[in-house]
Amino acid sequence: MPGKKNNPKLKEVKKVTTNVLLEMKRKGEKIAMLTAYDYTMAKIIDHSGIDVILVGDSASNVMAGHETTLPITLDQMIYHASSVIRAIDRALVVVDLPFGTYQGNSKEALNTSIKIMKESGAHAVKMEGGKEIKDSVERVLSAGIPVMGHLGLTPQSIYKFGTYTVRAKEADEAKRLIADAHLLEDTGCFAIVLEKIPATLAAKVAKELSIPVIGIGAGGGCDGQVLVTHDMLGMTQEFSPRFLRRYLNLYDSMGKAFSQYIKDVKSKDFPNKKEQY
Ligand code: KIV
Repeated sequence: MPGKKNNPKLKEVKKVTTNVLLEMKRKGEKIAMLTAYDYTMAKIIDHSGIDVILVGDSASNVMAGHETTLPITLDQMIYHASSVIRAIDRALVVVDLPFGTYQGNSKEALNTSIKIMKESGAHAVKMEGGKEIKDSVERVLSAGIPVMGHLGLTPQSIYKFGTYTVRAKEADEAKRLIADAHLLEDTGCFAIVLEKIPATLAAKVAKELSIPVIGIGAGGGCDGQVLVTHDMLGMTQEFSPRFLRRYLNLYDSMGKAFSQYIKDVKSKDFPNKKEQY
C-alpha cells in the first residue's frame, strides 16, 4: 500500500508489512526496530527509515515514570499507539498488550487486541511469554491480528524473576526458551523479540526459526535489533546495561538548552526585537 501522508520528501512509500519482514529475514537483511510513544518522535523515527516501531509498555517507565511496566493501562497504551499511528508513513507499528489484559484469559486477549486495532489503527500486537500464553496467541491470531512474541527477559514478570539480569543462562531455562520459540512460530507469530539472553542462544534460535527474531541484549546473531528510543538517544541516564549503545547524549544537550533559555529569559535577552510583533 503506498502512502505519503507526512513526509513531503517521499514520493511514494512502500509500507512495511509482516510479509516484508519475513522476506527481509529470507534475504538476510537486518530489521531495525525502535520504540515510540508520541507523534513527534514517531514521525522523526519513521522518516529516518525504521522498519518497525514498537509502542512498548516501556512507556510505563519512560513516559510515566513508573518503576515497572505493570501499571500502564489499556487506554493509556491506546493513547500512545494512536499518537504514533498518526505520524507513520512506512513503518509497521506493533503495540504491547499491557500486563493483565491477556494472561490466563484468551477471550480478554482477543477483546484487548481488537480494541487496540480498532481505536489506534495499529498493525500488530506483542505479548510476553511462551506456552503459558499459547491460547491467547491462538485466539488473537484467529481474528486476523498479527502477533509478535517476546521471550527471555519479560519485564511484565519482573516480580516472578526478582531481577533484570540475563535470562536463560542455565541449560534447562535455555531449553525451555528454545521450545517456546518454536511453539510461538508454530502457533503463527510473525516474529519474536528475545530480550537479554546469551548471544549464542539467541543466534541458535534465529537460525532454527523461519520467522524474524529481533534481539535486545541478545547479540548480533538475531535477524534484527530493537532499543528503547529514549535510551539510545541518551535522554535517560539511570539505565546503562552493556547492550545499550547511546547515539546521542540528549540529557546533557537538552539540559544545556533549557539552562540557556532560563538565562536568556532572566537576563531579558529573550525575546529580542526581532522575536516580537
Ligand atoms: O516495552 C518495550 O519497550 C519492549 C522492548 C524492550 C522490546 O518490550
